[in-house]
Amino acid sequence: MRILRTIPEVRAAIREARGGGAMIGLVPTMGAFHDGHLSLMRAARAGSDLVVVSLFVNPTQFGANEDLTAYPRDEARDAALAEAAGVDILFAPAPSEIYPEGFATNIHVAGLSDVLDGASRGAHHFDGVATVVTKLFGIVRPDTAYFGQKDAQQVLVVRRVVRDLDLDVRIVVCPIVREADGLAMSSRNVYLDPAARVQATALNRALDAGAAVFEAGDAAAGSILSAARDVLGGAGIDPEYLELRDAETLRPLARVDRDALLAVAAHVGAARLIDNHVLRVAEAPNDTETEAGA
Ligand code: PAF
Repeated sequence: MRILRTIPEVRAAIREARGGGAMIGLVPTMGAFHDGHLSLMRAARAGSDLVVVSLFVNPTQFGANEDLTAYPRDEARDAALAEAAGVDILFAPAPSEIYPEGFATNIHVAGLSDVLDGASRGAHHFDGVATVVTKLFGIVRPDTAYFGQKDAQQVLVVRRVVRDLDLDVRIVVCPIVREADGLAMSSRNVYLDPAARVQATALNRALDAGAAVFEAGDAAAGSILSAARDVLGGAGIDPEYLELRDAETLRPLARVDRDALLAVAAHVGAARLIDNHVLRVAEAPNDTETEAGA
């Protein structure tokens, strides 16, 4: 595995690989790898000839009171894990390589960036994500880029950027990877002390409780959210948000009459955690196909 620091180095490596007809897979990350990241790298390895992982703690997606300086960083450990996962190139640039003096562009996805985490953390968060991901796409020019469903809203924002700006990249979304007790893997889980680590399991249990109400036949947002809220309350968690929204547009839903995102964010101990479940509405049988197949 090669560790590259500059944009010209990456461009040269990509040019060479493309010359040989290689399909390029990109996994954008901020490091502090866990099994969730490794699942993205494995998917990229299976689906591409050349796998590039970017490791960049992107300052523009952090707010003034957020954990930019505290964010876990251990490049040597990350490099060893990436190499073991079969990654070909680790792109680990300095902030000045990505944001040189005079950098002035900002990509804002109206609507999608302003709700849920965008409302809690501020619009700068998804602007920072959209801008740096677009920049990484411009540097690496991947055929396919891999993202995790845990950051469901980020996936929607990136998909919209790709669609609106006609970027020639396929987005693959990999399932949430969970600890044995259901806690979604996150680089921020290292902030949890033992008591908070136990408390944090309530996030997934709350989403499970909401999903169970829906699966039992009650599609009303009020019932689903109240079941989830009860579990959070029982664990002493006051969520930053707990919402049910259209899984594509993120518009609020009064009932699950289309695929819905049940999403939660909460401060647990020293960590701010997010998690989500998608509640899927079974597709109505397609009459035309049934007739054609009969
Ligand atoms: O999901 C992340 O780790 C980051 O938001 C990303 C996509 C690497 C952009 O900085």
